[in-house]
Amino acid sequence: MTPPTQKRSVLITGCSEGGAGNALALEFAAQGLRVFATARFVESMSNLSESDIETFALDVTIPESILALKDEITKRTGGTLDILYNNAGSMYEAPAIEADPQKVRNMFDTNVFGLFDIVATFTPLLIAATTRNSSYKPTIVNVASILARIPFPFASAYNATKAAVAAYSDTLRLELDPLGIRVVTLFMGEVSTRLRSAEMINFGPDSLYVDAEVKVKERTEQSSRVSITPAVLAKQVVPGVLGTKEVSYIWKGTNSFIAWLLNAIGPRKVFDSTVMGPVGFSDKAQVKRIFERGQRMVAYLSQ
Ligand SMILES: NC(=O)c1ccc[n+]([C@@H]2O[C@H](COP(=O)([O-])OP(=O)(O)OC[C@H]3O[C@@H](n4cnc5c(N)ncnc54)[C@H](OP(=O)(O)O)[C@@H]3O)[C@@H](O)[C@H]2O)c1
Repeated sequence: MTPPTQKRSVLITGCSEGGAGNALALEFAAQGLRVFATARFVESMSNLSESDIETFALDVTIPESILALKDEITKRTGGTLDILYNNAGSMYEAPAIEADPQKVRNMFDTNVFGLFDIVATFTPLLIAATTRNSSYKPTIVNVASILARIPFPFASAYNATKAAVAAYSDTLRLELDPLGIRVVTLFMGEVSTRLRSAEMINFGPDSLYVDAEVKVKERTEQSSRVSITPAVLAKQVVPGVLGTKEVSYIWKGTNSFIAWLLNAIGPRKVFDSTVMGPVGFSDKAQVKRIFERGQRMVAYLSQ
């Protein structure tokens, strides 16, 4: 058994190379923390093993995988953990009424229920860390998204997972406060990673929204061109997580400032015009074609 160390420790989920988790692992390590980086496949984190970062396999949807990791971390730290960073997630984009129910459920398992299970399993290690260092509160970071607040078309189920994370995280904050644990919700803006890709978007030829598909793919390509890199995100987020200030919400990533501002001051429909244009919903001819497809569909179904 490795003896307990005085370094603050952080456990991060979803650390495959190219993603936000991987960059966060490197940034926390650069700030002197002991980093436990996890991903479904350890090979996807091979760039981290060259450093002191300890890597483990973890699938957040598999209870045995979570418990095995808890045992391993307990052995390595003597039963404490200072920071739990719930980053793992997936994104499935499809029209709300045509989405594949199994893909939606899989996404909820990863983004929502997996995160709940990780929190429930690892919180005792954070409670055990409360008396270790009086300068810092053990902290849980839950990765939500600006899409928890923006009605981003053709990502309704993903938006719902992130709204669920935001609501859960904000309530968890109050429940864990008496235990001496800080909970931070990250409303993450756009970052250039493999989370979204045009190839994964496939409405199919029979979709009512077949006209919008090209623009939805373009929206994804445009986002990866203009968004900040994972390394930049990590540099922006880590100080807020490590600081002694009682930060409960962090808004970082491309478009996060405007999303924060409009969410705070705008009427509920403030985002509509900005999200409708990119998918062609401000084009009257396209909207008419979608309407007509809907009418043809119900006429066919009623025959
Ligand atoms: N990129 C953005 O614009 C953006 C914006 C707002 C919020 N976010 C959120 O930021 C977080 C990180 O995403 P990212 O952009 O860095 O995307 P990413 O590069 O695709 O990273 C996602 C990570 O989650 C892992 N993962 C997926 N399913 C998992 C499971 N069942 N168990 C454990 N790990 C799993 C992935 O592993 P594999 O490599 O094995 O798939 C990968 O390591 C996500 O929660 C995402 O929703 C991203």
